[in-house]
Amino acid sequence: MQSVLEILQKTTDFLTGKGVEAPRYNAEVIVGHALGLKRMQVYLQFDRLLGEPELDKIRPLVRRRAQREPLDYILGETEFCGLTLKVDRRVLIPRPETEQLVEHVRARFAGVEPPARILDLGTGSGCIALALATAFPSASVLGVDASEDALALARENASSAGLDGRLSFLRSDWYSAVPGDARFDAIVSNPPYLTEAEVAEAQPEVRNHEPPNALVAPEDGLRDLFTIIRGAPVRLAPQGLLALETGIAQHAALLAELAACGFAAADSVKDLTGRDRFVFASPVRREAPALA
Ligand SMILES: C[S@@+](CC[C@H](N)C(=O)[O-])C[C@H]1O[C@@H](n2cnc3c(N)ncnc32)[C@H](O)[C@@H]1O
Repeated sequence: MQSVLEILQKTTDFLTGKGVEAPRYNAEVIVGHALGLKRMQVYLQFDRLLGEPELDKIRPLVRRRAQREPLDYILGETEFCGLTLKVDRRVLIPRPETEQLVEHVRARFAGVEPPARILDLGTGSGCIALALATAFPSASVLGVDASEDALALARENASSAGLDGRLSFLRSDWYSAVPGDARFDAIVSNPPYLTEAEVAEAQPEVRNHEPPNALVAPEDGLRDLFTIIRGAPVRLAPQGLLALETGIAQHAALLAELAACGFAAADSVKDLTGRDRFVFASPVRREAPALA
């Protein structure tokens, strides 16, 4: 028999040796998950003795983390904009930057007619689609992805959140299967925008476990962003908003492309670390309230 504290210490040392960031936090979460405890409850059970059946639940999870599988895949869920979403290797794990994208979209519709129809391109887990459906309770949201596996998970998430009445999902290569006459008040996307070289330099959690099709785009990471920009003018309502998450060194190219595609207004917005990460554009000029 070994105590919870002893197991935590051993797991922390083991994960440290495997190069896992924040090894003690990971150990606490994994041990808690295996024992059906929240992390805070783990602190109250340091002296609890664990037998083989409990250790048998912990070991395979620790092994997975030691192989640098992302913690959220092991837990099977993540938090996004206050929603709990199922995640696994079919989809990219939603990032905090993408929560910022959602917040910016909310802010840009503050004080004006809320969007009735929203298109989320490259929906993955459905995180943006679900968060926007929650933020705009009268909106209907179409989530598009090229991956049928991702769409299956997005549908599950929509159904668990009770949002499936206002969300629909479509397999499509960007706009190709979106009905030609559909007009959206907002087109939002966090598409693949990294280069092969950037992914090769990323942590093993990203490069070895997350779906490559969710990460990499050809042409310096710009091809999918350009496809989305070029198709947007005919699908956006005149007062509509195109909102994109991007790489940090792509804004000059993206703003030039937006201008070439006839967008009357476009602006570049930084993330909380001061790097260019979001682009917003509209067919006509509209107010762009700053985030509080
Ligand atoms: C960066 S992930 C974003 C996932 C999710 N929206 C998020 O923010 O976490 C990009 C998504 O675009 C999808 N995708 C890649 N190529 C696509 C294409 N040609 N058409 C539609 N979706 C595509 C991927 O399957 C992936 O789910």
